Amino acid sequence: MNRPHITVVLAVSADGKIADTARSAPGFSSKIDRAHLERQVAAADAVLFGAATLRAHGSAMSLKNSELIALRRQKQKPDQPIQIVGTRSGTIPSDIRFFEQKIPRWLLTTSKGAALWQTNASEAFAEIIAPETPEGEIDWPQALRILNGKGVEDLALLGGGELIATLFEQHFIDELWLTICPVLLGGKDAPTPIEGIGLGGEQLQKLKLLSVETIDQEVFLHYEVRQE
Ligand SMILES: NC(=O)c1ccc[n+]([C@@H]2O[C@H](COP(=O)([O-])OP(=O)(O)OC[C@H]3O[C@@H](n4cnc5c(N)ncnc54)[C@H](OP(=O)(O)O)[C@@H]3O)[C@@H](O)[C@H]2O)c1
Repeated sequence: MNRPHITVVLAVSADGKIADTARSAPGFSSKIDRAHLERQVAAADAVLFGAATLRAHGSAMSLKNSELIALRRQKQKPDQPIQIVGTRSGTIPSDIRFFEQKIPRWLLTTSKGAALWQTNASEAFAEIIAPETPEGEIDWPQALRILNGKGVEDLALLGGGELIATLFEQHFIDELWLTICPVLLGGKDAPTPIEGIGLGGEQLQKLKLLSVETIDQEVFLHYEVRQE
């Protein structure tokens, strides 16, 4: 299937949480991790995140590092990757900073979500993509084919755990970058990298460790998802 190569990039507490139980914006990783995240964003044609992540943060990570932008220009890529919000409902507050950022914004949604944005689409979102299953869900295989057809070859998936679960369950994740941060959050309701129903032990997804780097107090893990 023609689809983008998908790399998950997340900061995780030492007890495996990506946020606290209130699902607020994390803020527990260092400047070094944020620079790492910016490098991953710069390497992508587009980034995708769930609407809850956008509602928690209010903005997307735009590229500011001039060297990374220069590198993109050398590769004939636009300065900023496309920022794609995944949402069933289309419910995104229109007064958040995201809509003031100088970034290309696309909406990936259902027909119900698309209807909310179609009127002022040109200002808010440059593209609205809404391939739908008969059950009214986003048709992800079709969505990924459409993105690929529009030139998205490398897609960085920046969370949260609910959206990652959807793509994980459909076997669309190729690589993971996890930054293990020196904090503990606890809480059974605090989100983890992959929510959803999970896999039975005999179906577990094997990974190949590509690299490990420790910088100061954080550990940067890079995995490839084994396709077997
Ligand atoms: N530590 C990190 O690196 C990191 C990274 C990202 C996020 N986070 C944190 O994670 C938390 C948010 O994660 P989360 O798991 O609660 O939510 P999420 O995955 O960011 O967003 C969930 C929302 O995404 C949409 N969505 C999810 N699956 C979908 C599907 N299959 N089809 C269509 N739309 C879908 C839905 O939007 P609608 O409700 O609009 O339909 C859903 O409510 C926040 O606290 C955020 O700060 C941490």
